[in-house]
This record gives sequence, structure tokens and C-alpha cells, in this order.
Amino acid sequence: MANRHFGKAGDVWKHLMVCEVLAAAEPTHYAESHAGSGAYDLVYDDERNYGVGHFLEVSAVVDTLGASAYAHALHRFTSTGRARYPGSALQAMTLLGDTSEYLFCDVDPVSAEDLRLWGRNLELSRCQVVEHDGMTAVAEWLDTCAGSRCVVHIDPFDPFAAQPGGLSAVQLAGQVAESGSVLVYWYGFDSPLEQAWALAEIAQRTSKPLTCLDVLVTDETGQGMNGDLGVGTTPGTGFGVVLANVEEQVIANCDRLGRDLIRTYAGKRLPNGQQGGLRFTRRA
Ligand SMILES: C[S@@+](CC[C@H](N)C(=O)[O-])C[C@H]1O[C@@H](n2cnc3c(N)ncnc32)[C@H](O)[C@@H]1O
Repeated sequence: MANRHFGKAGDVWKHLMVCEVLAAAEPTHYAESHAGSGAYDLVYDDERNYGVGHFLEVSAVVDTLGASAYAHALHRFTSTGRARYPGSALQAMTLLGDTSEYLFCDVDPVSAEDLRLWGRNLELSRCQVVEHDGMTAVAEWLDTCAGSRCVVHIDPFDPFAAQPGGLSAVQLAGQVAESGSVLVYWYGFDSPLEQAWALAEIAQRTSKPLTCLDVLVTDETGQGMNGDLGVGTTPGTGFGVVLANVEEQVIANCDRLGRDLIRTYAGKRLPNGQQGGLRFTRRA
């Protein structure tokens, strides 16, 4: 299954950070264990209005957001003709072009075919798409790119699922961090008690310093109860990214972009019409 949550607020947060890291790191090798499809036809429902719709609006007036690598990748697909939302793999292909070698994994044949199509459209000479378990493929690939500028993006639906004898997404994240490659790991959660959970999980599996840029969806009191992020961006749910082996200056840029974006949500109603907001926390 491709990414059914494309263009929602959690997706925008992830892509804002991934693109910033990619633009700064200029990797020679880029891999995604859970790549999704290349692009999705853009629809504007309540969740997307709150996510990508809101970003397109505010990036026209907030300079830092408008100048972000994410805005650059996004506008290429939203500003003309048939509006599409580019997934993370297509954003990377757009930003890096043929300067990088790519490994994109997805078990969904439709997503894999779409990725191949975009690789051909953009005339990328080193774009490999594999249609089996992404944790296994990326773990093997990591060994081959030692000494290169490598970035790995891990974005699972189920962070603890593993093939028999294989790695889970959080285990792979620990290995990537340990290898010295740049890691961008996306996570979501359904209760304030789970905020930043991926930081602790990955920290158990690596000695490398980690940074976590976390967002909690709150109600009008600044609190939230339990929710279901898969259903909607409701109070008590949230999302974030964990970064490893990313330069301090790049983390600072991600932090600033994140804060600028969160600020634009002040006074905005949640997708379900409730009063509420987004609260940003940075942890290490
Ligand atoms: C959240 S989506 C990816 C979205 C994409 N990274 C983006 O940001 O645009 C997760 C994807 O993981 C794929 N998937 C699920 N299990 C997988 C596995 N074991 N290996 C590779 N892909 C998997 C699903 O088919 C789905 O397309």
C-alpha cells in the first residue's frame, strides 16, 4: 500500500526536515526503506487543507518556509497543470537529480512501478527500486556505501515489524546511526504519553547522539487525550523525526523551519473543526 497519509500535517513535517537534510548533505547515496509511491493526485480534504494546503499558503508569505528545499520540491508538482503531491522519494530525486545514487524499497508493486516511472522520467542513471522488504535491502546496501556521503530515510507504518530473521525499522535505524550515515527516521503517535517515543527506542540501539524534532497536537487548553493519528490529526496525537549524524548547523536550520511552521498554526482550527494547536519540542 502506498502512503495513504500523503500531504497531511505529519507528512509535511517529515518532508520539510528530509528535504532540508538532503539539500545540505548533498549525498552521493540515498536510500529509503519505505519509499511509497512517486506522486499522488492532490486532493484538498480537511486533513490536507491543514497539511500541504496550509504549507502552500504560508510559504508564500513566510520567507524561510518559501525558501526551504521542501517548498522548492513541492512547487514543481503543485504549481502547474495536474497538481500532485510528491512523495519523499520524488522530492529527493527532484532535489538531487543525477548527482546521487538511489535505493528505493517498497513491497507494494504499484508504488514500486510508480517510482521506476519517475526515475525514468527524470532520466536518473542510478535509481534502483526493490520490491521486497526495505529493512533487509537497506541493511545490505549500507555495507556497500561505507566512506560515501550516505543518507537513509526510514518511514514505516509499523516500526517493530520484521521479516523472519530480519531487522525492524527501529533496529535498522540504530544500525544506520552506528554506521555514521545520516539518518532521518519518521514516527507518529496516538497519545501524549508516547511523545518522542522513537528517540528512546533508537537511543537504545546506538551510541551516536540523536536529535528529535517532535510535534504534539493539542486541544484549546494545550493538552490532548488519546486519538488515532491514522484517522485524523486530533488532540493527543503527534509525529516527529529523529536525526543522527546530521551537522549542528543543519539541525539548527530544521529547528528554525519547524518553529516558523508551527507559529503559522496559531489560532487555526484542527482538521476536525476543534480549537487546538501544534506544540513543538526539540530533544536530544
Ligand atoms: C508511510 S509510507 C511511505 C511514505 C514515503 N516515505 C513518503 O514520505 O512519501 C510507508 C510505505 O511502506 C511500505 N511498506 C510496508 N512494509 C514494508 C516493508 N517491509 N518494506 C518496504 N516497504 C514497506 C508501504 O507499502 C508504504 O508504501
